[in-house]
Parts: sequence; structure tokens; C-alpha cells
Amino acid sequence: MQAAVPSGVSHAAPPILEFRDVAKTFDTQRGSVTALRGISVTVADGEFLTVVGPSGCGKSTLLNLLVGLEKPSSGAIFFEGSNAIDRMKIGYVMQDDNLYPWRTLQENVEFPLELRGVAPRERSRIARQYLAKVQLAGFENRYPYELSGGMRQRGNIVRALSYSPRLIIMDEPFGPLDAQTRLLLQQQLLDIWAQERKTIIFITHDLHEAIALGDRVLVLTKRPGSVKSVHTVDIPRPRNLRHLHELPAFRSLMSTLGDELEEEIMGSQREVEVAA
Ligand SMILES: Nc1ncnc2c1ncn2[C@@H]1O[C@H](COP(=O)(O)OP(=O)(O)OP(=O)(O)O)[C@@H](O)[C@H]1O
Ligand SMILES: [Mg+2]
Repeated sequence: MQAAVPSGVSHAAPPILEFRDVAKTFDTQRGSVTALRGISVTVADGEFLTVVGPSGCGKSTLLNLLVGLEKPSSGAIFFEGSNAIDRMKIGYVMQDDNLYPWRTLQENVEFPLELRGVAPRERSRIARQYLAKVQLAGFENRYPYELSGGMRQRGNIVRALSYSPRLIIMDEPFGPLDAQTRLLLQQQLLDIWAQERKTIIFITHDLHEAIALGDRVLVLTKRPGSVKSVHTVDIPRPRNLRHLHELPAFRSLMSTLGDELEEEIMGSQREVEVAA
């Protein structure tokens, strides 16, 4: 299907990131699986791009390619104009990421700063500042097992933010949380983004969240994942996340995205039935 808005065109800022005709096939002992094909997308500097697509369509793979955990089978990825991507400038909140159990919350958030050689006093200051931003002041010396799931997840997120990476990529970071905690974290993430204007790529399976957070929503097809469409979210900021569903622009995009995803998921289902 034609992209609703060609990627990158709606943003005046220069692209910080470009996927150029990227494909990924995994070759395993039990055969090969093509996870992604023909991915061409640009992301503007300071943009908040959300990504949705059926389970197994290659969303996590896309992020793993970006940070070099996997290599593209063909095509190339350019970050700040170079395909020698500097991993240290990218903060990655992985789908099943966890805090290190042997470190306190504070020590967890300091860890990437330690890796980058930040002096102890300065990294302590930065970690405390970020923990306070997500209402975790007072819990710095707790170990992960002493925290709730939502608190651990907040720790996880600020660990990726604390060293001020240029690009932050997040893979369903709020996945297992209840609706209220999720809303709170979405708001906190938007506040931090508004202050710091990092570029964010955020994967979610929740269409409400994709619209609530994004400047644009990228929809991937079923596997092999390719770009089905890219939609600009025409809702001004700052956004009141609790009342978004009252806006016609929100409802209209919800309905479009719902139809597009259903098309992809039903398509996968039909293929399974034909093969059976
Ligand atoms: N290391 C790997 N080796 C072999 N196959 C892999 C590997 N990683 C991913 N795949 C396959 O690539 C496809 C895409 O996987 P990926 O994890 O990117 O999907 P996803 O869109 O993130 O799914 P979900 O929404 O369920 O998290 C799947 O078929 C998966 O089995
Ligand atoms: Mg995934």
C-alpha cells in the first residue's frame, strides 16, 4: 500500500537516521526466515517515531540492526550520515531488558555513565536527577527486587536516557504495565522528550500509545516486515493523554491504523489456514 505520508517529508529537520532498502534474513539450521525486506525510512532529528506491526514482523530486528546486534542481509543504515554507527550515541531499552539485580537502582542508572568514563561524583548527580524526574527519588539505594514492576521499568528507561544519547530506541517499554502506570510513564516520557528533544523510535503493539506519543506512526506489514504506511499524527503538543480519545483526529487515525493492522493480521491467519 502507498505510504499515507512519504517518510521524512513532513519534517523540516534534517534526517538523523536513514534505513536504505534494508532486508534481513536469518539463516538457521532449520531453514531461513526473512524478517524484514525493502525497509526505506528516514527519521528526522528530534522526531518521535512510533512503530506498530503484527507480532513477528521484525520490529525488534529493526532495532537490533540499528545498534549492530544483527547485520543487514542487504541495504544500509545511516546514523548522522555515516554507516559506521556509533553505538555509544544510542540508548536502547530492549523488549526484555532488565535492571542488573546485583546493583542498586542508582548503580544501574550510573552504569552506562561509568562505561563512558564519567567521573563518580558527576554520574551520581546525573543518575539522581533522572531518577527524580520519574518520581524515584528516595529509592536510589534499593535493589531491583525491592521495587515494583513499574518502578523497575522507570529505572530501565532512565538508564537509557541518563547519558543523553542522541537517539533513544525503545522496544515495547511499557508492555506489561497496567493502564494507569502506563499513562503516567507515557506522560513522563513525553515531558523528558519535550525538555531534551532527543530522537526517539518507540515500538508498541498499542495503537492508542502509538498515536498518543508519536509525531508519525510507521506501520509494518506482516513478516517479512516492510513499510505498509507512515502517518503523521496531526494532534498538537503538549497533549493531554487522558482526553485524546475525544479528538476527531485521534479517532480517525485509530480507525485507520486498526483497519491496516487487521488487514495484516488476517492476511497472516489466512496463509496459516491455506497451508494447513
Ligand atoms: N536471532 C534470530 N534467529 C533466527 N530467527 C530470528 C532471530 N531473531 C528474530 N528471528 C525471527 O525474525 C522474525 C521477526 O522477529 P522479531 O523479534 O523482530 O519480531 P517482532 O516484530 O519484534 O515481534 P513481537 O511483536 O512479537 O516482539 C521472527 O520470525 C523471528 O522468529
Ligand atoms: Mg519484538
